[in-house]
Amino acid sequence: MWSVGLLCVGAVLAIGITHWIYKWRNPKCNGVLPPGSMGIPLIGEAIQLIIPSHSLELPPFLKHRLKRYGSIFRTNVAGRPVIVTADPEFNYFLLQQHGKLVESWSLDTFAKVFAQDSRIDRAHVQKYVRSLVLNHFGAGSIREKLLPQFHEVVRETLCAWSRQDSLEMKSAAAKMTLDFGAKQLFSYDPEEWPEKLSDLFKNFEQGLMSLPLNIPGTAHHRCLMNHKKVSNMMRDELRRRLASTDKRHQEDLLDHFIRDMNTEQFLAEDFIVQHMFGFLFIIFDSVSTSIALAIKLLAEHPLVLEELTAEHEAILKNRENPDSPITWEEYKSMTFTLQVINETLRLANIAPGMFRKAIKEINVKGYTIPEGWVIMLATSAQHLNSDKFENPLEFKPSRWKNLESSVIAKNFMPFGSGLKQCAGSEYSRVIIATLLHVLVTKYSWTKINGCEIMRSPIIRFPNGFHFKVSEKIN
Ligand SMILES: *[C@@H]1O[C@H](CO)[C@@H](O)[C@H](O)[C@H]1NC(C)=O
Repeated sequence: MWSVGLLCVGAVLAIGITHWIYKWRNPKCNGVLPPGSMGIPLIGEAIQLIIPSHSLELPPFLKHRLKRYGSIFRTNVAGRPVIVTADPEFNYFLLQQHGKLVESWSLDTFAKVFAQDSRIDRAHVQKYVRSLVLNHFGAGSIREKLLPQFHEVVRETLCAWSRQDSLEMKSAAAKMTLDFGAKQLFSYDPEEWPEKLSDLFKNFEQGLMSLPLNIPGTAHHRCLMNHKKVSNMMRDELRRRLASTDKRHQEDLLDHFIRDMNTEQFLAEDFIVQHMFGFLFIIFDSVSTSIALAIKLLAEHPLVLEELTAEHEAILKNRENPDSPITWEEYKSMTFTLQVINETLRLANIAPGMFRKAIKEINVKGYTIPEGWVIMLATSAQHLNSDKFENPLEFKPSRWKNLESSVIAKNFMPFGSGLKQCAGSEYSRVIIATLLHVLVTKYSWTKINGCEIMRSPIIRFPNGFHFKVSEKIN
């Protein structure tokens, strides 16, 4: 009797599970879903997703699926159905459809760290933040005040670097860009704070991609702790300024936020603190990765380095005083340098892609993307597409000479696109250009060790990039 009952329960359970697995593998859709696999129940293909590649190559997850299924495929990551697309035309189309067919979506870890309030009008906020950032980090500000300041910082930093026997390039560059950026953001002076921002961010970053186990001792725990520390630093500074009546003669970005608190409803304390954190993190991480990679690639490509050096020596020759700071016109005239920078950004592929969510059903190439699904626009795959960039893994800055601007617009989006494009894109380019200017004219550098690359899917340098920087002897 009992065994029959157990058998029945077992059978019902088995049917239930089979049905659940079937539904998992075959999600509801009013048409044909793009090809792909939904992986195993609950985790989907999350494990395959984090398997790294050990070069500039795309991680195996993307590479193999694009080869097998074509440029649009479906997957599931930890229970969330996702469409991945590396189709240039479709992606370009989606980017024009912002607010109509798709809206922004952020990764869970980031969403938790940069919590979003759903009551606020996102489009208005995005516009506000973008114009605020452009105001402080855009072309006008670079040209009028930042360029000479940054030139001076680079000169001092490189001089300090050349006194070290071995230098880890990524963290050294991150410290430089963070300290300089934080000065624009809230007049940061490392001497005045008990803990260095660059140390806090180093620990934060190491934990960001680790297993999300919040137990003392884990990288994730340290990451959350440091996020809290930096946030508290920002909160204290904000409160201090709100309580004080002295005026700074140079308005920084935090002052600007405070000034707008009277007119913009959404500018609450948490909002400001989270955004300050976000800005600091971007400045810390993205520019320094590009700098470290550029320095490594140049060390490995002596002919490119030679051409780059010639361009900068010509600039020095044309200057009345070779020690005067770079001007905006000089920066704009650095044709080859800007090609080197684009080529580095293309290969660094810092963001694996952009995330959107379908707010309506979308039909593309005979497939249907159901409403509510997440869409990853795999710009990283587009940057390494051999149809558009011949021998895509080769570092070849001169390829930019022959690329048409329409091809660039549809296939190269290192800073996102449209209104959502990172307002700091010019700032990043200027920082890299200024650093290269001083570096190639005054210094030489040799690789010591490290220099391994890992992409999982975000690019990392697991053992660092160790260099010896020396003053050039002319
Ligand atoms: C570099 O890429 C940008 C797009 O991000 C493009 O507008 C620019 O023309 C490119 N520069 C060169 C030198 O190819």
